Amino acid sequence: MEIAVFSAKSYDRQHLDAANAAEGHQLKYFEVPLDNETVGLAAGHGAVCIFVNDRADATVLEALGRGGTKLVALRCTGFNNVDLKAAQALGIKVVRVVDYSPNAVAEHAAALLMAVNRKIHRAYNRTRDFNFSLEGLMGFDLCGKTVAVIGTGKIGRVFAKIMVGFGCNVIGYDKYPSPEFEALGGRYADEGEIGASADCISLHCPLTPETHHIINAETLSRAKPGALLINTSRGGLIDTEAVIGALRSGQLGGLAIDVYEQEAGLFFRDLSGIIVDDSVLQQLITFPNVIVTGHQAFLTREAVTTICETTLRSVTEFESGKPLTNEVGAG
Ligand code: NAI
Repeated sequence: MEIAVFSAKSYDRQHLDAANAAEGHQLKYFEVPLDNETVGLAAGHGAVCIFVNDRADATVLEALGRGGTKLVALRCTGFNNVDLKAAQALGIKVVRVVDYSPNAVAEHAAALLMAVNRKIHRAYNRTRDFNFSLEGLMGFDLCGKTVAVIGTGKIGRVFAKIMVGFGCNVIGYDKYPSPEFEALGGRYADEGEIGASADCISLHCPLTPETHHIINAETLSRAKPGALLINTSRGGLIDTEAVIGALRSGQLGGLAIDVYEQEAGLFFRDLSGIIVDDSVLQQLITFPNVIVTGHQAFLTREAVTTICETTLRSVTEFESGKPLTNEVGAG
C-alpha cells in the first residue's frame, strides 16, 4: 500500500524502512507535519502515517478522503490529534500503537524526577565550567516519600513499580482503577489525599476533554508545598500559566516535562538559531528548577522498533481486509 509518512525524521525512516522489509509497502517520506497546508501531499496514498503533533482534524480528514486516503496510522499511543468522529463519518479507519514500550516512557519519567530532584541539569552545566560548588543543589531522599501516579495504565504502572523499587509510598488516581496497580504495591487515593501528601505527582493519563488542565490553579493550591510535578503524557494536562505561578510562589518545588501544551510547531525541530515566539516556554526554561525535554520519552531503540513494526503491520491488516488489531473507534 502507498503510505505518506508525515513528520518523518531520520530515525523514523531508518526504523520504518527496516520494518517494511517484512511488509513491502511503498513509503513516501515528508518532513513536514500533516496539516491543512500540507494535506495535498497525501493525495493518491491509501494510508497516511502520522505522529503526535500532526493534525488530523475534520478539515484535514475531509481533504485526505478526497485524495483517496482510507487509513490514518498513528505511530504513537495518544490519538487526541485525530477527530475520530469525523474520520468515522468519512469512512476513514484510524489505528494507533496501543502497546510498545511502556518502559521507555516510564523510565524517562523516572529520569526526569531524579534529575529535577537532584539538580543534575545544574550540576552538569556547572562541572563543564569546573564549578564544583554544591550551593543550591540539595535534593531529598526519594525513599519513604509519597509519589502520586495519575493514570495507572500501562506506563503509569511501570512508573509505579520503579517508584516502589525506590522505597516510595505510591498512591494513584485513575478513573478506572486496576487491581494490577494495587498488586505491585500501589494504593488508590482521592484527590484530597494526593494533594495533601504527594511529594511528587507524575501524570500518565491520556489527554481528553475531561483531563484537560487536570493540573490547574485550584489543584495546585491544594498541592503539598514544594512538591515536584512530572509530565510525560500530554502538555494539555497542565495549565502551564498556573504552573508558572505555582513555581514562582514555591508551591511547586520543581517541574520536569517532556510535553508542552503549545509544543506543536516547536518540538522536534532545531530552533536554536531563532528567537522562539513563546513567552510561556521562555519563562519556564529560565527557571532553575524546571527541566524540559522535547517529547523524547518514547525514543528508545526498543520502542521505536516496535512502533514501526506495529504501524506497518496494521497497514498490512487493513490492506488484506483483516480485522484491525489496533483500531481506534469513535467511541
Ligand atoms: P493507558 O491507556 O494504558 O493508560 C491510561 C490510563 O489513564 C488508564 O488507566 C485510564 O483509565 C486512565 N484515565 C483515563 N481517563 C482518566 C481520567 N479522567 N483520570 C484519571 N485517569 C484516567 O495508556 P498508556 O500507554 O499508559 O499511556 C498514557 C499516556 O502517555 C498516553 O495517553 C500518551 O498521552 C502518553 N505517552 C507519551 C509518550 C511520550 O513520548 N512522552 C509516549 C507514549 C505515550
